[in-house]
Amino acid sequence: MFKVAVIGASGLLGRAIVGELTRQPDWQLVQTTFSRPVGQSVTLDIRDADAVARFVDRERPDAIVIAAAERRPDVCEHDPALARALNVDAVRAIASATQRHDAWVLSISTDYVFDGTQPPYRYDATPSPINAYGRSKLEGEQALAESTDLGCVLRLPLLFGPIVDWRESAVTSLVPAIAASARTASSEAKAAVMDAWAIRYPTYTPDVAVVVRQLLEWHARDEAVCGTVQWSGDEPMTKYDIARHLASALQIDAQLTPQHTPTDATPRPHNCHLDSTRLETLGIGRRTPFDTAIRDVLAQFPWRG
Ligand SMILES: NC(=O)c1ccc[n+]([C@@H]2O[C@H](COP(=O)([O-])OP(=O)(O)OC[C@H]3O[C@@H](n4cnc5c(N)ncnc54)[C@H](OP(=O)(O)O)[C@@H]3O)[C@@H](O)[C@H]2O)c1
Repeated sequence: MFKVAVIGASGLLGRAIVGELTRQPDWQLVQTTFSRPVGQSVTLDIRDADAVARFVDRERPDAIVIAAAERRPDVCEHDPALARALNVDAVRAIASATQRHDAWVLSISTDYVFDGTQPPYRYDATPSPINAYGRSKLEGEQALAESTDLGCVLRLPLLFGPIVDWRESAVTSLVPAIAASARTASSEAKAAVMDAWAIRYPTYTPDVAVVVRQLLEWHARDEAVCGTVQWSGDEPMTKYDIARHLASALQIDAQLTPQHTPTDATPRPHNCHLDSTRLETLGIGRRTPFDTAIRDVLAQFPWRG
């Protein structure tokens, strides 16, 4: 039986991957979590290299998907040691442990490895991250390549999908401010200022989960895809655009003001559009239109004000 371990099964992306892989009748799944146990997950702190090695030696998976990370740019900026421990050293520990068992390792990375000045970016374009998060993820990519010949990096842009908290995704985290800006008969609300400078390609986690499942199928057929691949939604949007789509889906009469210059404390790239051709050529991928996907997310986690 083909056995897959998902590291970080409790996260925004990890949950979607688990949801997709549990539908595979002939696959066995092992999930690890850290502070938020789910179902039959194994608790594993990936900063503990010995515990990682024991987990891999015990479970002996055919493939490991690393969806655990520190993905908040502001946290990475202020705590580079944590960013390094999770995004670099843990990737090295997992990949080194799996190499002994010839397991294929898929590590999730980000479009923030690019500086955002020359989109679109092919998988083999030269990275040049402009913040601590991007630098740590790039070092994680290098750690994977140094530790195993059976490694694959999947770079992704801004993610959204089914949530358990509005703050889980930079897409849904806009909802409280959008709702607070709504005009009502009884109160005068203030407009919400939304970034209209940085261009993002919001990508739906269940679509990424399909990409991950398809990559695993290639490995299960002994045709492992190695090196770097990228997947992205194809609808360019600023946060201002995203907020307008959200307001429409929520049927909220929001007051939104576009902010045309960046104001973030942590530097963020302008446009890191990822070219997905390498995966498309393999027949891999699925794209759900943003409006369809966001309505699904809001239906599963309704805004109650
Ligand atoms: N979210 C985005 O917009 C985005 C965009 C591009 C790329 N990515 C990449 O996609 C991947 C998944 O991101 P995400 O948004 O799903 O992240 P997330 O929701 O923040 O989830 C992070 C996961 O890491 C786990 N984790 C944290 N500290 C850990 C530790 N010490 N030991 C073991 N596990 C630990 C968490 O476990 P607990 O919850 O159990 O503590 C959780 O499962 C990351 O590699 C990220 O860089 C994300």
